[in-house]
Amino acid sequence: MDPLIPFVSQCAERVEQVLGASLPAEEAEPRRMHQAMRYAVLGAGKRVRPTLVYAAGLATDVPWERLDAPAAALELIHAYSLVHDDMPALDDDDLRRGRPTCHRAFDEATALLAGDALQTLAFDVLARDRHSDSATRLRMVRELAQASGSLGMVGGQALDLASEGLELDLPALENIHRHKTGALIRASVRMAALTADDLAADRATALDDYATRIGLAFQVQDDLLDVEGETEIIGKAKGADAAHDKATYPSLLGLEKAHATAERLVDEAITALEHFDDGADPLRWIARYIIDRDR
Ligand code: IPE
Ligand code: IPE
Ligand code: MG
Ligand code: MG
Ligand code: MG
Repeated sequence: MDPLIPFVSQCAERVEQVLGASLPAEEAEPRRMHQAMRYAVLGAGKRVRPTLVYAAGLATDVPWERLDAPAAALELIHAYSLVHDDMPALDDDDLRRGRPTCHRAFDEATALLAGDALQTLAFDVLARDRHSDSATRLRMVRELAQASGSLGMVGGQALDLASEGLELDLPALENIHRHKTGALIRASVRMAALTADDLAADRATALDDYATRIGLAFQVQDDLLDVEGETEIIGKAKGADAAHDKATYPSLLGLEKAHATAERLVDEAITALEHFDDGADPLRWIARYIIDRDR
């Protein structure tokens, strides 16, 4: 069996617990709002970002408890980004994680506000984490804020929308992907590294190189799955990118070159880890998984 499967299950179960405990109860008022938040976060999703946090922690000898808060915070930001990404003003999608998108299951105003609240909850989770000292918590808050804000994910989303219908060149497309998706993937590894004791600078740089490459590869594969995947398996409507005239790696380069680009990035990411021992194996498995996945 692929050794990544039990590792991902362990990480996914662990972060599910942390998320479930961090999110307000459905019974808490305003109930519809809290139902929407829990709907958007719990019970589905591949949990790639939390898994990366735990894997990077394993590579740098961080105790698991210290990784729970960054793992949950990343997934909360990611879930919020999906809720907003699916709304009519952005990608206008009806299906997410194999079920109706948040604004379809609830309504637009609730989805908008649920996304807002998930975002602030992410920072609350980091700020009140008992397992890291206050200086580390502050650094994690800053890292997550930068990765998710207008110079990170949100900025990438803005560029993505502004580029619909335009013919982009490869550097422009790469810039969008590095921001809208790469930034949070990179932050997953960097936040784990922030919790490590005495991490040597060259190791931190190697991890960052790894994360930057898989972050871009992840979105290239997402673009490919929009063309080559199956709606029932990817859990979202295939062909949505073409329908919105989005610039994507397959639309710009063709399928073959898009696959080759993703493979090159993953090879480079694994090479960046060459001085790490087998504690970094989960990071190596995740890199491969990112381009082998069918969902
Ligand atoms: C989808 O992310 C959106 C992108 C940033 C490409 P994932 O593919 O990680 O989605 P889930 O969390 O598994 O649903
Ligand atoms: C998503 O990119 C990036 C986000 C910040 C959510 P996509 O718009 O391609 O993600 P999917 O395909 O809807 O999951
Ligand atoms: Mg989008
Ligand atoms: Mg989308
Ligand atoms: Mg997509």
